[in-house]
Amino acid sequence: MIEIKPVLEAREISKTYPGESPVYALKPTSLRFQPGEFTAVIGRSGSGKSTLLRILGTLDKSDTGELIIEGHGVSRLSEAELARFRRRRIGFVHQDYNLFPEYTAWENVIFPIRLDGATEDRAKTEALLDRLGILRCRDRFPHELSGGEQQRVSLARALVTEPAVVLADEPTGNLDAENSSRVAELLRFACDEYRQTIVMVTHDAAMADYADRLLRIRDGVVTE
Ligand SMILES: Nc1ncnc2c1ncn2[C@@H]1O[C@H](COP(=O)(O)OP(=O)(O)OP(=O)(O)O)[C@@H](O)[C@H]1O
Ligand SMILES: [Mg+2]
Repeated sequence: MIEIKPVLEAREISKTYPGESPVYALKPTSLRFQPGEFTAVIGRSGSGKSTLLRILGTLDKSDTGELIIEGHGVSRLSEAELARFRRRRIGFVHQDYNLFPEYTAWENVIFPIRLDGATEDRAKTEALLDRLGILRCRDRFPHELSGGEQQRVSLARALVTEPAVVLADEPTGNLDAENSSRVAELLRFACDEYRQTIVMVTHDAAMADYADRLLRIRDGVVTE
């Protein structure tokens, strides 16, 4: 049997937030994610979902173990290499959107492309915004957008570079059923058509139905 190389692999990653009563947010966890695989992560509030996602996205450091992305051990990359890697290969949708308030929706979306010294494909970017139902919001600033619109701008920004790995923290937390299924279908399409690897945190059972795989997390313990 030919073994497909995982795009993303976590070996015994864990996280404790220190303090008077330390929080063991993520117990040692090993996971592998394949190209084109769509994984949903579910669990109660405070169970460690965002902690897991942030470590997988190299936004936070694991206390233990190792993270391997496309064959590269993340701990062996320099800060500059890691930043470049994150910019090109990982798309992250933050739970709180994390948009730049002084940039328009359009400027927010193309930000990672410009940061990389490239120029956006205008038609392609417009098509992406249209697909998410936010094309008419392109010239507005975040404070002029609804929560759900901001959320979709954040998703467009994560997808625009066509990253190998998309990590989305509750990307439909603020959306109605119709827009949630738009997002789910777009993510499903990204997996099937472009072999992108998607890990999505969700509270929505209907969203989890679109995934190939379901991870449950409870008090920092992850189970398939
Ligand atoms: N920076 C931090 N310092 C201390 N504790 C933290 C920190 N970030 C998270 N925690 C704690 O770690 C645990 C896991 O938090 P995390 O944000 O991963 O939960 P979550 O599953 O994403 O929850 P939610 O569904 O509410 O977003 C929680 O008990 C939280 O209070
Ligand atoms: Mg969270």
